[in-house]
Amino acid sequence: MPKKIAAFELEPWEQKYLKERLPQCSWTFFEEKLDNKNVQKIKDADILCVFVGSIINKTTLSQLPKLKFITTMSTGFDHVDLAPCSKRRIPVSNVPTYGENTVAEHAFALLLNISRRIYDAVEQTRRGNFSYEGLRGFDLKGKTLGVIGTGRIGLHVIKMAKGFGMNVIAYDLFPNKQAAKELGFTYTNVNKVFSKSDVITLHTPYTKQTHHLINRKNLKKLKKGVIIINTARGKLIETAALLDGIKQGIIAAAGLDVLEEENALKEEKQLLSKEFQKQYNLKTVLEQHVLVEYPNVFITPHNAFNSAEALQRILDTTVENIKGFLKGKPVNLVKNK
Ligand code: NAI
Repeated sequence: MPKKIAAFELEPWEQKYLKERLPQCSWTFFEEKLDNKNVQKIKDADILCVFVGSIINKTTLSQLPKLKFITTMSTGFDHVDLAPCSKRRIPVSNVPTYGENTVAEHAFALLLNISRRIYDAVEQTRRGNFSYEGLRGFDLKGKTLGVIGTGRIGLHVIKMAKGFGMNVIAYDLFPNKQAAKELGFTYTNVNKVFSKSDVITLHTPYTKQTHHLINRKNLKKLKKGVIIINTARGKLIETAALLDGIKQGIIAAAGLDVLEEENALKEEKQLLSKEFQKQYNLKTVLEQHVLVEYPNVFITPHNAFNSAEALQRILDTTVENIKGFLKGKPVNLVKNK
């Protein structure tokens, strides 16, 4: 019976929670992400339990000869290369949903921060300046929100947007006509979403098709003064396009929970190592640094999932995923898109 589990990116309370629910397994826990070094310590692992910082590719898999199952504690699974997994017949499960409200609420937190200048206002009052000069915002009511990706999170964002009195237009590969009717929004093509929206919010997974959905070529199609919100995946936006857009005034502001090379920001002490240079695009890493400094760009560290309630649901689904695999009936399996 495969029972050796190596689990990464887990705080001590999460480790305790998982161990208590699956005491029959032998656990090896790491607070850090899976990398080239710690993979050496888990050579006999049957099961890998990871989060989005742990990149699982052909090289990782080649070092884990006994691996039989992977469960990621995230909805997105673009950090797991599915092709070599399926070659080895290693099923991969995710947490398909842990409450779409959690990420949708974060998307709105980023948007409201921009529309009402919350960060700037708080910073100003902290400095003892109680004047409202320079802090004028704008209403969301009556503005057009363009939602790209109307799955679980996208639809929840639309519900919230309707509460704010926004007009909503959307684009999805598979339009949900029933939802459009019920929630009162319209589907259109991606170019119309670009040209008509005052605010664009991204909620698709990262796939070959969504790679650089917003890029330097289509930047000019965006409505001048648009606000971009991205809580989905960093690689949906070409970082250079974001910088260009802001410099040219096409993009008025951006609220980003994800960045193209976000993992690089956590590892910069190793910036000059060969490994770092192989793994990350240094040009993008530098562009990210410029982006972080812009006063109209607000970045959170891939934190949209991070609510107390969501974490509880993530752990419970992860336990279900592992139990399902151990019983020979894996659940929440992901497919290559
Ligand atoms: P979902 O699977 O319910 O919805 C995704 C939607 O995108 C679907 O309606 C699908 O048809 C659409 N789509 C896929 N490819 C497309 C394309 N090429 N063009 C247009 N539409 C396309 O997923 P859910 O739960 O709404 O999550 C969306 C994404 O949000 C996840 O894939 C993940 O990357 C990201 N996410 C980020 C989190 C964070 O902490 N920042 C937390 C959870 C999810």
